[in-house]
Amino acid sequence: MEQGKPQYNFNEVIDRHDTNAIKLERCKALFGTEDVLPLWVADMDFKTPDFIIKAIQQRLEHPILGYTMLPKEFYSSTSKWIKDHHDWDVHREWLGFLPGIVPGLSFAVQALTSPGDEIIVQPPVYYPFFHVIEKNHRVLVTNPLKEEAGRFVMDFEDLEQKFTAKTKLFILCNPHNPGGRVWSKEELKQFAYICEKHQVTIISDEIHADMVLPGSNCMHTPLATVSAWSEQNTVTFMAPTKVFNMPGIISSAYIVPNSELRQRFALFLEASEMNGGNMFAGITAMAAYENGEEWRKQMLDYVQGNIEYLADFLKNNIPQINPMIPEASFLVWLDCEALGMETDELHKFFSLKAGLGLNKGTIFGTGGEYHLRLNVACPRSILEQAMKQLQQAVNSKQ
Ligand SMILES: Cc1ncc(COP(=O)(O)O)c(C=O)c1O
Repeated sequence: MEQGKPQYNFNEVIDRHDTNAIKLERCKALFGTEDVLPLWVADMDFKTPDFIIKAIQQRLEHPILGYTMLPKEFYSSTSKWIKDHHDWDVHREWLGFLPGIVPGLSFAVQALTSPGDEIIVQPPVYYPFFHVIEKNHRVLVTNPLKEEAGRFVMDFEDLEQKFTAKTKLFILCNPHNPGGRVWSKEELKQFAYICEKHQVTIISDEIHADMVLPGSNCMHTPLATVSAWSEQNTVTFMAPTKVFNMPGIISSAYIVPNSELRQRFALFLEASEMNGGNMFAGITAMAAYENGEEWRKQMLDYVQGNIEYLADFLKNNIPQINPMIPEASFLVWLDCEALGMETDELHKFFSLKAGLGLNKGTIFGTGGEYHLRLNVACPRSILEQAMKQLQQAVNSKQ
């Protein structure tokens, strides 16, 4: 540890009962039992950093919780963070507050397309992408990812076949959930070039951008920075909530350099009165962006250690389970085909025999068969316990 730097403790096990945590509350419904280690919803079991909690406490020292504006420094601290971390100069007018990225995806679908329009996504992918398309009565079109050398790659040949006169939007997950791919600049350039040929606007969900793992040798590239066309035809979403473990606050941002596109999107937010935030959204984002770098680095080092522990454990003890090693974030895509179970049976086996609550692969669409998604943003002792339970369950099956 460097002198004078805070040392954060990610080993502490924190009981989340009685907080209405989705991760715990929905176990019975999803896994058929409450008796599971919940390693599913993509939030962390680490303490939300102290500088964020303090920002909220400080605000609560004032006795009136009245109607409140976003502090103007919300914009400057967000754009400074993006410049420092992703080398992107975001002008003030490009940037706006967004009350959550999943809501933002739905707003974009509604603001930029009409019922019956086609929208392309790349499964297996974060499942709300499907919901915001289908529940808004748009047509879901898929460009499934391919797996090469243990990681996902885009299938550009297939993509070329997927555009029709009705294609109006592409929703990109950059970096990718559940595969943890940090798309390279070259891949994104080629991707943007194809979308340009077909003149299709892109929503780039970059919520995982600040979680590129130290072991990956990758760098996040905002899609909007790969070409002049992509800058003018991308709606980018970013947020401090995932990386700083405060998703319950709901605080994110949109960035749209093209003024016509921005107006269409912003007008939709305005018309729905969705362009303001709750009083904690701005102050927590600022606290995160202004104080969070050391915490972010230490958290990513810890998560990297968890991924390495998991990969070693599986290789040495349960080689039937093959993890896709993520380049970003704390979600690990597990290929369990060699366990010889159909996806539903596999999910039940994990829940009821191993006592582990993981996401079923098929909710992420095509390519999710025989897979589960495991969240490793937990104290190492919990992950060790999970692996012990899994090993026992697999051994007793044989
Ligand atoms: C790709 C992606 N987008 C969005 C979200 C959630 O965003 P929000 O909490 O801002 O709605 C997640 C959470 O896991 C995610 O993985």
